[in-house]
Amino acid sequence: MIGKKVSLKPVSVLFAGILMFFGLLSLTACGSNTPDPKELYEDKCSACHGLGIVESAPYSSLEEWQAMVDRMQDKNRSFSDTEAKAIAEYLNENMK
Ligand code: HEC
Repeated sequence: MIGKKVSLKPVSVLFAGILMFFGLLSLTACGSNTPDPKELYEDKCSACHGLGIVESAPYSSLEEWQAMVDRMQDKNRSFSDTEAKAIAEYLNENMK
C-alpha cells in the first residue's frame, strides 16, 4: 500500500510541471508584441461605429487602407502606430 503512495508522487510532480508549462505559455502569449490583428480590428474599430462601415469601404490597396486607419487613429489615438499598421495590413488582406 505504501508503494502505491510513492508511485503517485512523480505523477503529481509531472502534473504540476505541465500546469506550470501552460501557465508560462499563456503568460508569453499575453505579453506578445504581435496580437491577433483580427481581434485588434474588431476591438479598436468597433469603438465608435459598427464594423459594417469598414466591410463596405471601397479601399483596395494597402496605402489606401493605411491612410484611412491613420485618419481613424487621429480621432482619439486609442491604438498605437504599430497596431494601426497591423490593422491596415489585416484589412488589405481580408476586405476585398
Ligand atoms: C474615435 C472614434 C473612431 C474610431 C476608434 C474609429 N473610427 Fe472609423 N469613423 C469614425 C467617424 C466619426 C467616422 C465618420 C466620419 C469620417 O469619415 O471621418 C468614421 C468613418 C469610418 C469609415 C467610413 C469613412 C471612410 O473614411 O472610409 C471607415 C471605413 C472607418 N471609419 C473605419 C474605421 C476603422 C478600420 C477603424 C479602426 C482602425 C476605425 N474606423 C476606428 C470614428 C472612429
